[in-house]
Amino acid sequence: MSRGQYPATRMRRNRMKAFSRRLVAETRLGVDDLIWPMFVIEGNDTAEPVDSMPGVMRLSIDRLVAQAGEAVALGIPAIAIFPSLDASLKDADGSQACDGDNLVCRAVRAVKTACPKLGIVCDVALDPFTDHGHDGVFRDGEIANDATVEILCEQAVHQANAGCDIIAPSDMMDGRVAAIRAALDDAGHENVQIMSYAAKYASAFYGPFRSAVKAGSLAGKDGKSTYQMDPANSDEAMHEIALDLQEGADMVIVKPGMPYLDILTRAKAEFGVPCIAYQVSGEYAMIMSAGQQGWLDEERVMMESLIAFKRAGADAVLTYFAPRIARLLGAQPD
Ligand code: PBG
Repeated sequence: MSRGQYPATRMRRNRMKAFSRRLVAETRLGVDDLIWPMFVIEGNDTAEPVDSMPGVMRLSIDRLVAQAGEAVALGIPAIAIFPSLDASLKDADGSQACDGDNLVCRAVRAVKTACPKLGIVCDVALDPFTDHGHDGVFRDGEIANDATVEILCEQAVHQANAGCDIIAPSDMMDGRVAAIRAALDDAGHENVQIMSYAAKYASAFYGPFRSAVKAGSLAGKDGKSTYQMDPANSDEAMHEIALDLQEGADMVIVKPGMPYLDILTRAKAEFGVPCIAYQVSGEYAMIMSAGQQGWLDEERVMMESLIAFKRAGADAVLTYFAPRIARLLGAQPD
């Protein structure tokens, strides 16, 4: 074989120059792909750092509204608001969840007034409101499915009344999407979307989030494993997604994110519906802490993790990195 012909295919040719690498890129990340999760607390002009999530703050409603304004200025389409309640307001049934004037509902109203076009996502689950930290209520020593679903319906309607655009049930009770859809429709909210946490695993990667919302210490020996999925399972995730779609989910979430890219790829390929990845608090904390140690290049790992979600099939990503990514994407390419 003559030197002139070998090798005819040189994969590196397309990679040699920046312009060419841009032309052949198969996946793009844009600001339209981002949902920015935020934490809200009581108070005025207050910002409390979340120790396990460097750069993330719990904000009083006035500061949250300012941060929502930042999301709008950066072109981020939507935010997700999570409440961090005083322990004194929590009880076994999470009764604050069904108070239409609770912290998260007041936050939603304030953000909607200030930023009417910004999409607002609210979790439906009881963990920020229960003293035991579970997403549901105990009856006879177990997290009771149907009793929890009734409460979740009420919670969802309050959030929709407050102006929430997307209801995101993160509780993993059976049948909750159908029940919430019916409750929203009955309350005149037929255009409020449901983004269900359909494939949500019982994951240790949620640790920093639980300290961010100051969640209870999770009574019982099983943790959340009687309702969240076993990390060993993949077919079961497809079953969960199929059910949530039949029940009326408009979009589905796979959570956590990076350790579950296979689930995301299957979900997108098998259902062809909007699939959202959640890059959860533990993923954020790992990247940030290694970056702070100088053990990896935090910014490059951040961008790489986001493009990986897109490549795997995500239509959008919930990520605490949203504002940093939006700023970087806004910068001119070299
Ligand atoms: C509430 C909820 C959790 C997260 C989002 N919604 C925690 C949990 O299920 O225990 C985790 C988000 C994160 O870790 O960033 N059910």
